[in-house]
Amino acid sequence: MCGIVGAVAQRDVSPVLLEGLKRLEYRGYDSAGLAVMSHDKELQRLRVQGKVNELFKEHQKSPLNGTTGIAHTRWATHGKPNVKNAHPHICHDKVALVHNGIIENHEELRKEQMASGFEFNSETDTEVVVNAIYEALESRLDLLHAVFNTTKKLQGAYALGVINNTDPGRLIAVKKGSPLVIGVGIGEYFIASDVFALLPVTQKFIFLEDGDIADITRDKLTIYDSELSIVERSIKLTELNADMADKAGYRHYMLKEIFSQPNAIEKSLEHRIKDGKIITSEFGQNADSIFSRVKSVKIAACGTSYHAGLIAAYWMEEIAHISCHVEIASEYRYRKSVVIDDTLFVSISQSGETADTLAALHLAKESNFLSTLAICNVAESSLTRDSELVFLTHAGPEIGVASTKAFTTQLVALFLMVIAIAKHNGLSKEYEKMMIKQVKSLSGRVSQLLHHKDEIEIMAKDFADKHHALFLGRGSFLPVAMEGALKLKEISYIHAEAYAAGELKHGPLALVDDDMPIVAVAPNNNLLEKLKSNLQEVKARGGKLYLFADKESDVESTEGVYIINLNVDYDFMAPILHTIPLQLLAYYVAVIKGADIDQPRNLAKSVTVE
Ligand code: F6R
Repeated sequence: MCGIVGAVAQRDVSPVLLEGLKRLEYRGYDSAGLAVMSHDKELQRLRVQGKVNELFKEHQKSPLNGTTGIAHTRWATHGKPNVKNAHPHICHDKVALVHNGIIENHEELRKEQMASGFEFNSETDTEVVVNAIYEALESRLDLLHAVFNTTKKLQGAYALGVINNTDPGRLIAVKKGSPLVIGVGIGEYFIASDVFALLPVTQKFIFLEDGDIADITRDKLTIYDSELSIVERSIKLTELNADMADKAGYRHYMLKEIFSQPNAIEKSLEHRIKDGKIITSEFGQNADSIFSRVKSVKIAACGTSYHAGLIAAYWMEEIAHISCHVEIASEYRYRKSVVIDDTLFVSISQSGETADTLAALHLAKESNFLSTLAICNVAESSLTRDSELVFLTHAGPEIGVASTKAFTTQLVALFLMVIAIAKHNGLSKEYEKMMIKQVKSLSGRVSQLLHHKDEIEIMAKDFADKHHALFLGRGSFLPVAMEGALKLKEISYIHAEAYAAGELKHGPLALVDDDMPIVAVAPNNNLLEKLKSNLQEVKARGGKLYLFADKESDVESTEGVYIINLNVDYDFMAPILHTIPLQLLAYYVAVIKGADIDQPRNLAKSVTVE
């Protein structure tokens, strides 16, 4: 979280920095700031509490001009979201710094620095870094060595951008555990937390590796590794373009992303299927031989990606007859676990930068796993770089903080993975063909479901004044219910919980009254009759039910029971299909409540800290 941008150019860099921050705002938006070196070598700084738009306004009133600068949008970890904690941090008007990540030993460093006379202006973990660099500069080190020496004292994860007024055209960038890219322009260089920030100024990028330090001037870039030896890092051309970031006429990115799911699903399937069969090499060169040895699967992920993993586990056991366990990455990374021989480790992540998921992967690499596979939406991410096998979801950039198209395309990828593994465990050609047919029908069926938007918008009115909601599902629809509840709470701030419907009477039924809406996912499968009995238990207690049913679920709207018939046939795609109306429900409830849908409070899109 937190977004960093920096630039060294011949032109005035402020517009580039501000536009970059706007594009990085999904990473954090509680305060923002920029520091630009003036033409007479003075560090000028603007900081605001709130969103980047506030910074734009301030900048209009008092513009900063200069050709070297750094900027930051913050997601507060240490210290409140206010101006004094906003970045850039400056020490003695000499050195300015932006930081993404967490300095774990900041308290110890703060004590040492206070003892040697430093006064602190913020509550952040960052200020110790700028102080340490200042101290090193005072001992006559140049900026590169001052930053390098400072990093040796730091524990934790960080990406840094540093400028100072003795070297006004120089920018030092460091990456350790937090993402950082260098944008290569013509006679100018940029840094940013992701490529997206820099697409208006370049398509050429260098992806720094952990421990790298880049010494950047307008006409020269030198990259050093963690031992300060010069290293070569290749320049890559991105296929992304700046226009991908517009809302295409939709009111919010989230709505655009919900409606782009048919297309995103098609893109995820493109070139992955030939003659009714999966092209296993799409997972990596050795995928076929690795998949042939898989005896069990371990999945680790966070949030929505974790829910995708939970659904995949049902598929894996039912279709491939291979045992599959799913773990919350932040739990898995700290627990002692047993790895069964020939277990494939699968991580799932939209961003590929989620700190907990990355840590789980790194732990897996030191353990006895057969191999590591990343299912990810960002090609050049830490997760894809560090995994042996990779399957990209090709959903396109997801900007709304609440994940939608990333989730459905993760499920497509996971379904293909299950089939590719199942082929080595007795899945017949006919069965494979049948399942490929199902996944190929998905995009069209999702398009049909989106037509229910008006009905769902009406239904959403019933939720807007509620404080709590329960979501029920059974089997692979329990994770669908969990995802529905997560969407509702994160963007509408209504407390929502998901339960396996059979668990209701073991406790949560006590909560049910006419003020507690209950959403049930009711596909037409072998558990439908059982689910109906669970729903009777709710109805008998005066609970108001909202049901998303399949074509032949045979349920009708009655007093206190609101049914939306999705008119879909039941098959393996049903968990994906049933997710769509829940996304729309959360969206429309949040619209009615007037919530900040694309940037919900306290959240950020890319969770690069623990
Ligand atoms: C919820 C949401 C989060 C993410 C989670 C993991 O809508 O977006 O729960 O799913 O932070 O992020 P990635 O998938 O980038 O690892």
